[in-house]
Amino acid sequence: MDKIRVVGGKALHGRVEVSGAKNAALPAMAATLLTAETIRLENIPYVKDILTTRTLLESMGVAASVSEDGAGEFKADAPTSLEAPYELVKTMRASVLVLGPLLARFKKARVSLPGGCAIGARPINLHLQGLEKMGAKCEVTHGYVDATAEALRGAYIQMDTVTVTGTENLMMAAVLAEGVTVLDNAACEPEVENLADMLRAMGAEIEGDGTRTIRIRGVKRLKGCRHKVIPDRIEAGTFAIAAAITQGDVEIANCNPKHLTSVLTQLNLVGAEISLGENGFRVRGHAAVSSKNVTTFPYPAFPTDMQAQYMALMTQGDGTAIITETIFENRFMHAQELRRMGADIVVEGRQAVVRGGKPLTGAKVQASDLRASASLVLAGLAAQGETVIDRVYHLDRGYCRIEAKMAGLGAEIERIH
Ligand code: EPZ
Repeated sequence: MDKIRVVGGKALHGRVEVSGAKNAALPAMAATLLTAETIRLENIPYVKDILTTRTLLESMGVAASVSEDGAGEFKADAPTSLEAPYELVKTMRASVLVLGPLLARFKKARVSLPGGCAIGARPINLHLQGLEKMGAKCEVTHGYVDATAEALRGAYIQMDTVTVTGTENLMMAAVLAEGVTVLDNAACEPEVENLADMLRAMGAEIEGDGTRTIRIRGVKRLKGCRHKVIPDRIEAGTFAIAAAITQGDVEIANCNPKHLTSVLTQLNLVGAEISLGENGFRVRGHAAVSSKNVTTFPYPAFPTDMQAQYMALMTQGDGTAIITETIFENRFMHAQELRRMGADIVVEGRQAVVRGGKPLTGAKVQASDLRASASLVLAGLAAQGETVIDRVYHLDRGYCRIEAKMAGLGAEIERIH
């Protein structure tokens, strides 16, 4: 099992290019099931979850190729299976995204329930309720969802919680349904808009993506297309915090600063200097870090996927910051590892109280989930001495060569095989 070793105390300088967004590439790959024609994707990040999704599509008989330069080609002209097996789904919950497209095109799907993960129970009740509103029958037995439909019909679907993959699944189910579907209280993450762009390139009729109300008019058939995956706003935010926490000066390129306005605003508030560009932004960190509260909410508010990284920064704050996590019920696993590095963090339910003012010291720590691992790398960059992070397979699910990118900015960091 790989580990990552970081020696802290180096200010990061230079330019880093952001990879494609995992959370935009995953639904895009699922959407290739909606047509028999060839789909070409660009800017796919070469990370574990993408390779898992390729394996899943191949297990269904889809011709799927993904290259390290981010190009992918898919052709689902003759699927041999309409099932997402437990063995694959348990390693990546986002496999549930094949449910909508399989139902839309084949009126049948058998998908393992994803089960929970480190950060929460992760139910998919809203996905299933929406599909049933469109006329599907979803039976949950033996840990699988068996979904069938005579036909999918447009419906008015009000989701009581904002769900990103729920919105994506239902959008993909609706594009081939008869009539109009309205998704109310929809997620408006950039990844949802990116998927809508791809579906429109395939001939779908969708409007309102990026707002809380999305309207989809079903069409008979969808065609192949070429589609570019948007840059990863969470990777961009992670590098922004790396610059801030090491008092460095980093240009973060190939990303859209508008996709992380809430994060950059918060970094400004805590004392980092942000300058925006066309195709990226620059972050200059300073020794004085102000402790500022933050609460995670659905996009466009401060993202839950940046909460762990922000907590690492707040350990350097000049006072006390209260971090409130409203999206997931158990997303403070990184706190106990940061405490091993000397951080003063008290977790009370959905809130973590972070008292700054004490320098971190390097330690052996353990990653628990994707963004928690990123938080530990960031803390290691700032800590005195050496930090060794175990279970970095969590990191590899969503970050492409993070240690190489950090080293390119002057960090003393290496992977230990
Ligand atoms: C997506 O997960 C992302 N994953 C997550 O990123 C991200 O943290 C999350 O959205 C929130 O932004 C992908 O896009 C592949 P949700 P998702 O459905 O869609 C509840 C990462 O680090 N809920 O928006 O699974 C749920 O329990 C990952 O890359 C229901 O109750 O999250 C949670 O409390 C981690 N019923 C809230 O909604 C449902 O049917 C938001 O979850 C669905 C969700």
